[in-house]
Amino acid sequence: MPLAVVTGGASGIGRSICHHLARHGNPVAIVDIDGEGAERVAKELRGDGARVLACRADTSVRSDVDQAIQMARSEFGPVGILVTSAGVAQFEPFGEITLDSWNRVLAINLTGTFHCVQAALPDMVEARWGRVVMISSSSAQRGAPRMAHYASSKGGVIALSKTLALEYAASGITVNNIAPSSIDTPMVHEWQSAGTLGPIEAMARNIPVGRIGTGDDIAAACAFLCSEDAGYITGQTISVNGGSYVT
Ligand SMILES: NC(=O)c1ccc[n+]([C@@H]2O[C@H](COP(=O)([O-])OP(=O)(O)OC[C@H]3O[C@@H](n4cnc5c(N)ncnc54)[C@H](O)[C@@H]3O)[C@@H](O)[C@H]2O)c1
Repeated sequence: MPLAVVTGGASGIGRSICHHLARHGNPVAIVDIDGEGAERVAKELRGDGARVLACRADTSVRSDVDQAIQMARSEFGPVGILVTSAGVAQFEPFGEITLDSWNRVLAINLTGTFHCVQAALPDMVEARWGRVVMISSSSAQRGAPRMAHYASSKGGVIALSKTLALEYAASGITVNNIAPSSIDTPMVHEWQSAGTLGPIEAMARNIPVGRIGTGDDIAAACAFLCSEDAGYITGQTISVNGGSYVT
């Protein structure tokens, strides 16, 4: 089974994706700026018998990314699957967004994705097989007040995935993105504690299926996109949002 590299795998959606891919038998490299968190998830996976490596890396820093991918490759062989879930959210009225804040969100969410994909793709090109899944956001599909930097970064991720899908289709590589909305993760809890987001029950009332999403909801879609069966799906934005935004 091909090596799966999952960024942001120490928490939330990324962690669920690591569990799903490991259950499918893929060796997993967990790449996260939170090295201890990555090690914690690695322990959970090893407990289930998975082959796994934790790599601390800031995905906005190219040398960190190159080093992490190299470590993973030496341990498990070429990268076959890349999932980019590392990301940060920020809520600020547009007029108050500083250049530093704008640059930070873009650097992690968009440029970080660029670094990871550019570092991992050569293995997939060589193998003439690969799966790339980027985690975008419904904010890029419908707009999100006080999140201009975040929504713009995720819009860039969607455009990047479509473009790479076309550029690498003939190399046997599919590139898709999943646009989640309202998923119960530490990121959401953090913004609830800060008073920016309301309680889970209030969020659930605005979602047609009547509940907030889980990391497993995203991971199930991701695992399918990474499977052999999904070889004819590329360049798509898969909305996993309980019907809260219907494209
Ligand atoms: N939770 C939601 O409702 C939701 C909705 C839409 C999109 N998303 C996206 O899903 C992805 C995962 O979010 P989550 O909710 O699981 O959040 P989370 O905060 O639980 O997990 C994000 C992970 O990314 C890591 N990370 C942050 N900056 C990093 C960096 N520079 N380098 C490496 N790792 C870094 C964090 O340490 C953390 O482990 C993000 O890209 C987020 O924007 C989440």
